[in-house]
Amino acid sequence: MENQYIIKGGTPLHGEVTIGGAKNAALGILAAAIMTDDTVLIDNLPDVRDINVLLEAIRGIGATVERINPHTVKINGSTINDVTIDYDSIRKIRGSYYLLGALLGKYNKANVVLPGGCDIGSRPIDQHLKGFRALGATVNIEYGMINASADKLIGKHIYFDVVTVGATINIMLASCMAEGRTVIENAAKEPHVVDVANFLNSMGANIKGAGTDKIRINGVPRLHSSEYSIIPDQIEAGTFMVAAAATKGDVLIKNVIPRHLEAISVKLIEIGATVEEFDDAVRVSCNNRLMHTQIKTLPYPGFPTDMQPQISTLLALSSGTSIVTESLFENRFKYVDELSRMGASIKVEGNVAIIEGVDGLTGASITAPDLRAGAALVVAGLVANGYTTIDSIQYIERGYENFEGKITALGASMQKIPVDDERAVQKFKLKVS
Ligand code: EPU
Repeated sequence: MENQYIIKGGTPLHGEVTIGGAKNAALGILAAAIMTDDTVLIDNLPDVRDINVLLEAIRGIGATVERINPHTVKINGSTINDVTIDYDSIRKIRGSYYLLGALLGKYNKANVVLPGGCDIGSRPIDQHLKGFRALGATVNIEYGMINASADKLIGKHIYFDVVTVGATINIMLASCMAEGRTVIENAAKEPHVVDVANFLNSMGANIKGAGTDKIRINGVPRLHSSEYSIIPDQIEAGTFMVAAAATKGDVLIKNVIPRHLEAISVKLIEIGATVEEFDDAVRVSCNNRLMHTQIKTLPYPGFPTDMQPQISTLLALSSGTSIVTESLFENRFKYVDELSRMGASIKVEGNVAIIEGVDGLTGASITAPDLRAGAALVVAGLVANGYTTIDSIQYIERGYENFEGKITALGASMQKIPVDDERAVQKFKLKVS
């Protein structure tokens, strides 16, 4: 049964929210966990759809997966009996490509279905394949599968043509047990790249320089057991920061690493919101209309593309004209049509959105086009006058755990109900009126 969100807008968010583990770090870490034959314990796992699909795939190739609780899992890769991964569900997620690096790195062989993920652009994987080939693997794509194999992997100097999170993590996975030394130049510096490197090192890998644009990996013969806690999700935190500012609320966002949120904090302060930083929390508040600005998405430490739809929604409500340039994915403005139905005034020209701030939005029936755009539409619904229903929330559930629960706990009126259930709509309206 498909669900939708129904939201009654207009209530400022107030209170505290606790951020979960980083989805995009967790995807790399779970794949890395199968590279040892010892048992690995991973904590602060987000309980979201993409993670559960990846765990299913890991179980599907024979690894032992024990979910101790929604946020803790034990994995043992010694029982893996298959290096081919091809399921309907795995086809829909992006993180499946990490199993290619992990299986190739451990068994010198992997066959993984081409990755899916949100439809935000063409999303090539040429840099991943270039990296695997540089390490000595033969890689070909046939019938929708990526097949990679090698007699043995040998460390190499690899220069990425573009800064890519996925390929950086994948080459760390494939090379950490390769013979000799691998150097990745023009590496991605995202916090989740560092987290995957830290996890691999906790298993005995020798990776230095993660977090800079040059990562050096000295191959080790084997990896061993580890207990590891995943870093907090920068984008879930950023989404709540924007929601607090957009609703003119006051929210303490706990279990974050404020340094990872700097690009977002700085922009919020620049447009007039108040952001207070604590050791492992940020507090965002706002009581007046925000101002316009210019934003360009860039690899870390630049402004994250995964926050572009949310901040654009905030700017759609700010005074004056803002310009937002999306420089990573060409198809990441699909939410603009939906926002326009709510009264926003945004014109997209190529990879640039020209946003004329409006005084307010009005509720509408809209559809989430992808994960982050869906989250942005929830923010719009929280601000809008009246009721908003959002369909296709399965996208949002790829990356936000208990979104409606966390938002409701901050005082807003939002519920997950079955699509086309008029009685549930009426019940919600009665409850909140
Ligand atoms: N690129 C290439 N060739 C490649 C790989 C990437 O040209 O082989 C290009 C892409 O087209 C893009 C840029 O390089 O223009 C960056 O892509 P990257 O590889 O960094 O992105 P990704 O691995 O496909 C991950 C996240 C995305 C996030 C981006 C950027 C996962 C599973 N996905 O995608 O997360 O937007 O990095 O930070 O980690 C999301 O969580 O909503 C999401 C889409």
